Amino acid sequence: MKKKIALITGVTGQDGAYLSRFLLKKGYIVHGIKRRSSSLNTWRIDGIYDDPLKTKSKFFLHHGDMTDSLSLERIIKMVKPSEIYNLAAQSHVKVSFEQPEYTANTTAIGALRILECIKNFDKRIKYYQAGTSELFGVSKSKFQDENTPFYARSPYSAAKLYAHWITINYREAYNLFACNGILFNHESPMRGETFVTKKIISGLIKIKYGIEKKLILGNLYSKRDWGHAKDYVEAMWLMLQQKKPRDFVIATGKQYSVKKFIEMTCKELNINISWKGKGINIKGINEQGKIIIECNKKYFRPTEVESLLGSTKKANKYLNWKPKTPIKKLIKDIIDFEKKSLKVNG
Ligand code: NAP
Ligand code: GDD
Repeated sequence: MKKKIALITGVTGQDGAYLSRFLLKKGYIVHGIKRRSSSLNTWRIDGIYDDPLKTKSKFFLHHGDMTDSLSLERIIKMVKPSEIYNLAAQSHVKVSFEQPEYTANTTAIGALRILECIKNFDKRIKYYQAGTSELFGVSKSKFQDENTPFYARSPYSAAKLYAHWITINYREAYNLFACNGILFNHESPMRGETFVTKKIISGLIKIKYGIEKKLILGNLYSKRDWGHAKDYVEAMWLMLQQKKPRDFVIATGKQYSVKKFIEMTCKELNINISWKGKGINIKGINEQGKIIIECNKKYFRPTEVESLLGSTKKANKYLNWKPKTPIKKLIKDIIDFEKKSLKVNG
């Protein structure tokens, strides 16, 4: 049987790193698009070259950019993939308020650029679009699923909304095998350090080991449905292995506030935390009476998504997919990784 060839945009990001390893294990040849940077941006995938699968001859990186059609066309024509996973995006919600045009160019028009290449070059290429629960924004229903109305609350979400609909449009207009995965927050040791879970865990470890004194955060009252990236990349792959292209919500069905996430991390790290004050004035205090957590306006978004909680009935039914990692294990995985990176023990 002919070897499957996957092309991953955003290969240097959290999901790109997990998906590359997952597909290599499945026997794929994996090509990734990385953007040029003045310092190395491949730390998440460097390990692939050292692993016992001897993946050197099965894993390739190419310079390209989601804002540069010529580079995308060149790579797709050269690689001739059977599947494209479009994971590249300016993916930080808060940053999207500061760089709305760049976010739209990369995250919305970037998806269109790839779909155009598929339409013009080879319509047999299957396409995965990295969609997001941010699309639900302000939702009237407690649980969100594939039928819940969208309400974009940030330039990031508005850009992903375009990517979502252009994927559906190309599927219907040109008969492409194109799927949207509407993924709720997923985290891991590979998570970028400015996303809240990694920031909390890294910050609290630094406080525990005397490297830093305080952790400054934004809104502690928003609630998220947090899963493990390792589980979620399998769902991406499963979507492209079905007979029919469909869109799926991927989530855990469990929800915690940012404040509760801090408490769970403190428990795991044996830090005794108590709270004083409310709203932006809330403070987290340790057993010596020192303030270790404070909030600052600069980490709040102009418009917040207060509550996200996913229902995965459709993914259970068609993909036979279920999340495997409980939040406690997710937190422990990130703690272990951070302790190693910071060279602290105990
Ligand atoms: P991430 O860690 O921020 O990775 C984003 C990737 O996109 C990185 O490889 C980044 O390159 C690349 N990228 C950014 N701008 C680019 C450009 N102009 N040209 C080429 N590449 C560019 O994000 P992630 O957590 O892995 O998420 C993967 C995808 O899923 C994203 O589209 C995200 O919006 C979406 N998503 C994520 C979640 C989540 O909770 N993680 C949930 C729903 C949807 P550098 O490494 O050089 O920065
Ligand atoms: N980043 C960050 N930093 N968020 C904070 C902070 C802080 O200091 N303090 C509180 N928060 C709150 C945010 O306001 C938000 O309500 C919540 O923590 C989660 O923030 P992030 O971890 O930045 O994730 P996100 O939910 O905004 O976006 C992530 O998940 C989306 C899926 O729902 C990103 O990965 C997006 O790319 C993804 O689409």
